[in-house]
Amino acid sequence: TMQIVILNDANEVAAYGADIFTQQLKKKAESVLGLATGSTPVALYQELIRRNEAGEISFKDATTFNLDEYLGLDGSHPQSYRYFMNEQLFNHVDIDKDKTHVPPSDAKNPITACQEYEGHIVAAGGIDVQLLGIGRNGHIGFNEPSSGLTSRTRVKTLTKATIDDNARFFKEDEYQPHLSITMGIGTILDAKKVVLLATGENKAEAVHAMIEGPLTAACPASALQMHRDAVIVIDKAAASKL
Ligand code: GLP
Repeated sequence: TMQIVILNDANEVAAYGADIFTQQLKKKAESVLGLATGSTPVALYQELIRRNEAGEISFKDATTFNLDEYLGLDGSHPQSYRYFMNEQLFNHVDIDKDKTHVPPSDAKNPITACQEYEGHIVAAGGIDVQLLGIGRNGHIGFNEPSSGLTSRTRVKTLTKATIDDNARFFKEDEYQPHLSITMGIGTILDAKKVVLLATGENKAEAVHAMIEGPLTAACPASALQMHRDAVIVIDKAAASKL
């Protein structure tokens, strides 16, 4: 089932999301957390850093798996998602970096690397809580519209819409990849719990399609309708088309 939580603003959404991760870490110190990039989760990560500094939670025994990465940007590149995660969370909490995983951007053989990434998730015992954002076209991770609803971690081409949406992170002359490695929709659905955050008017259409539209690969996030424990946390603006 999908549980829909509508809050006043982005701050409340971040705090609600942080509460879910706090409860998970308190219940099980060795939790396996699925993490996401984009601007939406930044406030949640800041709240987790604050709680970690205050001694309320620890990441010492946690393992993490990120949803996606740009193909060809290694972790030292400021636009890579590995770099983003280090900057936004890992460098500021008591996590063991060796237990943080981001899909490999620089693998010699991306196809076997994708299978290995799936294998690492299984070996860790599966993901307890997977954090998600949503693209304006309904993508989750980099599962763009038309992605298979049972897909696994693989190389995906980005749509023009997504490249344009993310162009704001790149300098004018900077190389912006058109390829990514992303967990599949099937991989995401295997997480025991899924938490999707969306804020702002520009996500309202995608949120409407995800929740009230048909289950369809045209809106990858609609696949969450099939999940038994999906929590959709949105602000009033993102809920405005429901
Ligand atoms: C990117 C990421 C997604 C993210 C989406 C929305 O394409 N691959 O995981 O959910 O952007 O990002 P934002 O939160 O910045 O709107």
